[in-house]
Amino acid sequence: MSSFPRTIYLDNAATTFPKPPEVIRTMLEDYEHLGVSPGRGSYDLAVRAEELVAQARRQINDFFCGYDPDRVIFSYNATDALNTLIFGLVKRGCHVVSSRLEHNSVLRPLHYLKEQGIIDLDLIPFDSDGFVHPEDVKKVIKRETALVILTHASNVLGTIQPVQEIGLVCRELDVPFAIDISQSAGIIPIDMKAWHLDAIAFTGHKSLLGPTGIGGLVLRDGLDVRATRFGGTGVDSYSLAQTADYPQRLEAGTINILGVIGLSAGLRHISQLGLQNIYFHEMGLLTRLRDGLAAFKRLRLYCADSLSNHLPLLTLNIEGMNSADLGAILDGDFNISVRTGLHCAPLVHQDLGTSPNGGVRFSLGPFNTSEDIDAVIEAFGTILGSF
Ligand SMILES: Cc1ncc(COP(=O)(O)O)c(C=O)c1O
Repeated sequence: MSSFPRTIYLDNAATTFPKPPEVIRTMLEDYEHLGVSPGRGSYDLAVRAEELVAQARRQINDFFCGYDPDRVIFSYNATDALNTLIFGLVKRGCHVVSSRLEHNSVLRPLHYLKEQGIIDLDLIPFDSDGFVHPEDVKKVIKRETALVILTHASNVLGTIQPVQEIGLVCRELDVPFAIDISQSAGIIPIDMKAWHLDAIAFTGHKSLLGPTGIGGLVLRDGLDVRATRFGGTGVDSYSLAQTADYPQRLEAGTINILGVIGLSAGLRHISQLGLQNIYFHEMGLLTRLRDGLAAFKRLRLYCADSLSNHLPLLTLNIEGMNSADLGAILDGDFNISVRTGLHCAPLVHQDLGTSPNGGVRFSLGPFNTSEDIDAVIEAFGTILGSF
């Protein structure tokens, strides 16, 4: 490891790095001893591997206050989960509501369906602080609306959306409501029942502290999602039709057991640290960063005055400088890793007026320290002093 230079890693919204050592250790140990195909064979090892997967489903169901561990569906990542959900719910002629805050993982499947003439789509706006409003959702819902799908928190602005209020609107109007919790899961509590959520899509490798290649859906009991991929499930093998029961209906093929082991270890690590402690640690650092950078006149911070209902990330630009150039200077001269460009959320940047340049995003993780933040502020002092 010593051959790697020390980097100040501030791209945790893309993926958290490093992973907790216990997560890596557990992945190595459990995969070494139990890395067989779960849910298929009847020999002891396969049964134990299946129990490990079942235990992870229970853990995830508890973590998100879901309805039933069998309604926890594993996927490769949030993008995969969102595709499974969207394509499995919509029908020709239906209407979908989403927002201009979304990541391409939601926008692109919906755009494709709209271009194919399969769905009618409304994308509601966000206000100047970065929030969508329940009234705007209510206004566009109609008889044909088959799904309202929104990001829980913007991956560009960090704003946490009022999903509980929107959940209530959807429940009253009897429309399924799903949220993309890619950014929020592992930083703030998520309660499917209290928030009237019909589905959530998560990814394992961001703040849930697991590896890449694992994510999933949690579905409310009674929400029926059609299978859009077909194959072996280890059950009902006599039938040429896809298994109807959950979770196998939506899990064609061998699941990523190494990913499940890592995700489960990540969740255990979060429980040990305490979700609240993670949130306060990272938001404390964000406040330090925002306050430190606010002193530089040539910086444009895309951030509301209040950091309540906010995740620990901040997007900015130096006036007159390309975001990619700023990212290259931070990386090359200061060993600071950040994400530049459009962050796979093109409509957010369009509405901010930052397209196609995008912005420079700083996103914090559990391993960041106040020294990291001070180094960023110092770097900006140097960069802005030399231009
Ligand atoms: C809001 C949001 N949704 C979805 C995704 C996609 O996550 P994944 O690449 O793990 O599928 C991301 C990742 O950047 C995201 O920020």
